[in-house]
Amino acid sequence: MATGAVDLRGAEATLLITLYLRERDAASAHPILGDPYAGPALARVRYDPGAVRWFSSDTATITARAKQLDGWARAFLAEHPDGQVLHLGCGLDSRPLRLERPAGSRWLDVDTPRVAELRRRVYDLPDDVELVASSVTEPDWWDRVDRDRPTLALAEGLFMYLAPDDVHGVVDRLLEHCARGRLAFDGVADWVRPASNATLALFGMDARFRWGYAGAAFRDRHPRLEERDDVAVTELAAAATRGPWHAVYRGVDLVPYLRDTMRLHRYAF
Ligand SMILES: C[S@@+](CC[C@H](N)C(=O)[O-])C[C@H]1O[C@@H](n2cnc3c(N)ncnc32)[C@H](O)[C@@H]1O
Repeated sequence: MATGAVDLRGAEATLLITLYLRERDAASAHPILGDPYAGPALARVRYDPGAVRWFSSDTATITARAKQLDGWARAFLAEHPDGQVLHLGCGLDSRPLRLERPAGSRWLDVDTPRVAELRRRVYDLPDDVELVASSVTEPDWWDRVDRDRPTLALAEGLFMYLAPDDVHGVVDRLLEHCARGRLAFDGVADWVRPASNATLALFGMDARFRWGYAGAAFRDRHPRLEERDDVAVTELAAAATRGPWHAVYRGVDLVPYLRDTMRLHRYAF
C-alpha cells in the first residue's frame, strides 16, 4: 500500500521526525522501543529523508519517551479494562497496535483531518480503533468521548506546538468532560522554545514550539489535577542506552537546567 505524496503543514510534518526515529531505533542493534510497525509505515510515505535525518541524534530520547508512555498506557488499561484512551496528536504512531487493549476498552486516535486521512491510508487499523479527524482544540469531537469511563488522555509531542491557551483549553475540556482518569504528556522547559525553533527553522520544518511547561503555574491553573510523575526524558534515555550515548545522557542528567529540557508528566484527576 503506497500513500503517494503527503501534504502536511506546520506541526503536522513533525510526525515524520518521530516516525523516522522509531524506524531508526527499530532497525538498530539495541532498540529502545523496537516498534515493528514504524519501518513498514515509513516505507508507505513519500517524504524527504534529508529533512528528518538531521534529527537522528534525538533517537534515544524520542523512543525512550514513547516507551514510558506505552508503559503508562499499559498500566492504565490493566487497572481499567473498561477505560478509554484519548491518543491526542497521534500522528503516525502505531501505539494502538503495539499495546494489547482489553476487549471492553475504547481507543480514540485524534489528529488533524489531513493527518487522520494519511493515518487511514498508512495503517490497516482494527475496527475498534476510532479515528477522530479534528484539531484537539475543537470542541465538537468531545461529544464522542464517554463521560463515565475512566479516561487516559495521552499527548506525546503535541502540547509544545499549541498556543498556551489551547493547551489549557484541552485540559479544561478533559476535566469538564471526564469524571476521572489520568493525563500524560511531555513538556519542554520555556527556555527550550527559542533554541528548538531555531533548529526546526534551520532544518526546513515549518513548525514552532509555542508552549513551555512550568509545573507550579500549570497546577495553579488546573487545581483538580494531582501530580503523580515527573520524569526527565534524558534520565529515561540514560537508562535505555549504553556506550557513549549513555555517558552523554548521564552527563546531561547531572545538570539541572539541561535535564529539564523535556520531561514527562502524569497527573490524576
Ligand atoms: C511531533 S508529532 C507527534 C506525533 C505522535 N504523537 C508521535 O509521537 O509520533 C506532532 C503531532 O501533533 C499533531 N498536532 C499538532 N497540532 C494539533 C492539533 N491542533 N490537533 C491535533 N493534532 C495536532 C500533528 O499533526 C502531529 O501528528
